[in-house]
Amino acid sequence: MKRNKITIIGAGSVGATCAHWAASKELGDIVLFDVVEGIPQGKALDLMQAAPVEGYDCNIMGTNNYEDTAGSDIAVITAGIPRKPGMSREELIGTNSKIVSEAAKNIAVHSPNAFIIVVTNPLDVMVYAAYKASGFSSKRVFGMAGVLDSARFRTFIALELGVSFEDVSAFVMGGHGDEMVPLVRYSYAGGIPIDKLISKERIDAIVERTRKGGAEIINHLKNGSAYYAPSASVIQMAEAVLKNKKRILPVAAYLNGEYGEKDLYFGVPAIIGGDGIEKVIEIDINEDERAALKKSIQSVRDVLVMLDY
Ligand code: APR
Repeated sequence: MKRNKITIIGAGSVGATCAHWAASKELGDIVLFDVVEGIPQGKALDLMQAAPVEGYDCNIMGTNNYEDTAGSDIAVITAGIPRKPGMSREELIGTNSKIVSEAAKNIAVHSPNAFIIVVTNPLDVMVYAAYKASGFSSKRVFGMAGVLDSARFRTFIALELGVSFEDVSAFVMGGHGDEMVPLVRYSYAGGIPIDKLISKERIDAIVERTRKGGAEIINHLKNGSAYYAPSASVIQMAEAVLKNKKRILPVAAYLNGEYGEKDLYFGVPAIIGGDGIEKVIEIDINEDERAALKKSIQSVRDVLVMLDY
């Protein structure tokens, strides 16, 4: 029986850690691709040498040749240059859109049946670039941001309450940027709405910290951005597809009329399973939430117009 094949384009911090989580979950064989010679080969070999210790059975190879990625079921695009302290996601667009488009074209040639999960920032616009460059159905091209933003939101809620992370469900809609929309009304701890447990001031502070979650880590690291939680989030989405789990996850999905928007990738809740984005879920939103989402949509569109495709 054929094992699943997962290709990760970009063997940097996020890419290599994706390989780590995917291996530890035995999701399939893994190919790490990078333009830099030696890095993907070295990291892949190192990860494979952890297999006898950790007890996972999968082949992990590193390469600079797209032919080695052929026949992948999932392709994760992390390739790009990371955001530096003080640099906005938007400034990254020129360089990263070229890198992402090149990756998507190569995936389409070598793995015509793959699902593409984009991680490179500025996320919502990079997914759009990958969608256009691949020529794939929008169901098969989506972006990882909402799972991460929601995980940050859930972490801060659990820390505030001193309760298990497992018991907190919450989600963040919108573009992966400072205008993202953490949805307090849809956030619960052990099934109890969080506004019954946490004061408004503290909720406001948690929402703000969530919005700045990526920047907080960049400021600590100085040189580089977050990778453990981003890569764990990617692999949760890959697993939902490979195991046809029908998970409801927030994802940068292509909108074709949903939420009144067309021809835009934007963070919304969706059912993710063996067919990729199986359904975008339209939730009931109040006036404040609608206004916040409009702002977020505008900030994604402002960057999208800069995309040269
Ligand atoms: N093809 C393949 N790989 C490439 C290309 C390319 N054309 N150009 C650059 N890369 C590789 C780099 O060589 C590097 O190894 O992409 C990798 C990026 O890794 P890091 O610099 O470590 O960045 P990382 O922290 O992994 O973040 C990757 O995810 O969260 C986002 O904002 C983040 O856009 C960034 C991406």
